[in-house]
Amino acid sequence: MTKFTVNNQPVEYLMDPQTPLLWALRDASNLTGTKYGCGNGACGACTVDIDGAAVRACQVTIGAIEGSFVTTIEGLSRERDHPVQQAFIANSVPQCGYCIPGIIMAAAVLIKKNRTPSEEEIEAAIPHICRCGIYPRLIEAIQRAGRIAAGDETVAIGARPGTDPSEAARVVPALTPAGRR
Ligand code: FES
Repeated sequence: MTKFTVNNQPVEYLMDPQTPLLWALRDASNLTGTKYGCGNGACGACTVDIDGAAVRACQVTIGAIEGSFVTTIEGLSRERDHPVQQAFIANSVPQCGYCIPGIIMAAAVLIKKNRTPSEEEIEAAIPHICRCGIYPRLIEAIQRAGRIAAGDETVAIGARPGTDPSEAARVVPALTPAGRR
């Protein structure tokens, strides 16, 4: 039995303690914002915050983080308005979006410690792989996020991306026997 905290909720996993955190989050907690990319620690798509550090969830077992505080992209902000999220929207950073949750989590950890990261510091903190090649916009957006976090800049954000779960509900018509309408 492995106990720790995920997005401020105490959780107790009945899985093998050797299970990678990535699979506990995705399969047991249904927190699918944390992505599987390479599975070997190279791409960064699975990055989450563990006790204030950006950690690749495919590389840590649930047994190794007993008692820790884990934050995933779902728990980063209630209104998708963390400074990094604001800057990523304002600068149109995401393209396909697959690697973005991991990048956002790593960027959030970075600007918490350093509000004015240089290009070199961002590249060192976020060596993630993005097949869309968003890197130039990424650097600008993370520096902007630092200014937003410091209160030196505000951005006007329109409608937030994504669909509110209550609006996503679809009524599935009852199946009727063939030939009957
Ligand atoms: Fe974990 Fe790529 S899936 S680093």
